[in-house]
Parts: sequence; C-alpha cells; structure tokens
Amino acid sequence: MNPALESARHTLQNAHRIVCFSGAGLSAESGISTFRDTETDALWSRFDPMMLASQQGFAENPVRVIDWYNWRRNKLANAAPNPGHYALASRPDILQVTQNVDDLLERAGVSPTRLYHLHGTITEDRCNAHCGYHERVDLASPPGLRKCPRCGAPMRPSVVWFGESLPDEVWSAARGHCENSDCLLVVGTSAAVYPAASLIELAKRRGASVIVVNTQPSGASSLADHELIGPAGVILPQLFGMYSHASDED
Ligand code: OAD
Repeated sequence: MNPALESARHTLQNAHRIVCFSGAGLSAESGISTFRDTETDALWSRFDPMMLASQQGFAENPVRVIDWYNWRRNKLANAAPNPGHYALASRPDILQVTQNVDDLLERAGVSPTRLYHLHGTITEDRCNAHCGYHERVDLASPPGLRKCPRCGAPMRPSVVWFGESLPDEVWSAARGHCENSDCLLVVGTSAAVYPAASLIELAKRRGASVIVVNTQPSGASSLADHELIGPAGVILPQLFGMYSHASDED
C-alpha cells in the first residue's frame, strides 16, 4: 500500500472523534459540477456567482436564478451517490459537515442526525422574507418562480448565497464538533470559501490531525498532516479499508 495512505489509515484508526468536512469534489464523480476546479467545467468559470447566487442577482432577475437552480436540480435528480459517498456512509461514527447542497450523502445512507449542510440544500425552497415557510421540492420537476403561500414574498432555494450568513444552529454545531475532533478528514474542497474553510484551521489549532483528500493541492494543503492526492471515490474506500487485503497489497 502507498505509505501516505498507510500512515493516514493509522491516524484514522487511532482517532476517536472524527469529523469529515467535504466539498464539491466529493460529488464530482457523480457528475455534479464543482465550482472552481481547473480541470472540469466548473460552475464559477461558466457563470457569474453574483448574478445567480446573491440577493442582488435574485432581485434583478428572479426567474434566471430559479431556472439555474432548477437546471442543477434536474442534474441531481439523475445523479447517484458514488463510492466516496458510500464509503463515508459506511462509517456512522464519522460526523459529516458538508458544504454541498446536494443530497447524495443522505441517499448513500448517512443519517441526517449526523450531517450538517453548512450552505443549505437545493432539495428545499424557503421564503425569501424569512417568514419561516419552507418546503421540499421534487428535484425532477421543481416549481418555477412562485410566492410564499404564508406571506406572499418570493420563494427561493434553501441555500446560502454570497453575502448571507450561514444558518446559526448549523454553524455553531459544526464549529463545536470540529473543535472537539481529534481527526478532521477534509474531502474535495478548495478550502477557498469562508467562514466554512476556517473549520480546518479551528480543528488543527485544537490539536486534530488533518487528512486531506483531493485530486490536487488545495487551500487545505498547508494544514494537512496527511495529503492524499486522488479521486475521493477511490481514496476513501481505500482509507477505510473497504478493499480486501489482497488488493491492498497490489
Ligand atoms: P470547489 O469547486 O471550490 O472545490 C472543489 C475541490 O474538489 C477542488 O479543490 C478540486 O480539486 C477537488 N476535486 C475535484 N474532483 C475531485 C474528486 N473526484 N475527488 C476529490 N477532490 C476532487 O468546491 P467547494 O470547496 O465545495 O458555496 O466550494 C465551496 C463553496 O463555494 C461551495 O459550497 C459553494 C461555492 O461557491 C455556495 O454555494 C454558498
């Protein structure tokens, strides 16, 4: 087995409070686009985030915003979890903090009680005026622009847009788990978006070992105790020893 993988496995085996902090790279092998990848058709190289993921962009052209999220929802409806999601689901002891707005970890079997979506979810819409109304949407056939049935304000995807705060409860729970972790697994994130990426510094400062899984060096590289370069769908099953000893020795 590759020595970097072996030593990361050893760290993981000796850890008691493991948190996985994931990003778009975890879902890349399911055909879901990342945001800033250099090698793929990353979303923010094709679209202007301020037009599509900000309060200002929504005010300017709400139909454009809803149509873009509905296009992403249709893609997600046709996607399936990949071996990286299943590997994480095979470890219910690992607490999941994700920046992803998809539901592939849940579909792989991760319990919602062990999963924090820092940037919200596209499986739901909510009232843009914060009246509290929210509802699940059918990913294959999501509704167009419509009014909140409770207060009449426009409905919008339950995601965090640029310039908005992370949901308080989710953020403080994620911080608490990272502060108390003894191992942070950082999977498929550029670690470029704050405050989410500050969780890596927080865990490291509090003494956690940091294992980074990414196809290339990232903003998390300088904090890594172990950096495993490769696709999450290949590395995670190996890291968790999901292959036979025979294949480990290959
Ligand atoms: P990014 O698109 O910024 O980064 C994706 C990372 O995944 C890159 O570092 C890639 O190298 C890596 N990657 C790609 N394919 C991979 C694979 N198969 N296995 C492992 N790694 C792979 O995505 P995030 O870091 O998640 O925010 O972006 C953070 C936030 O920026 C997103 O949540 C989103 C975006 O704006 C909001 O929507 C609020």
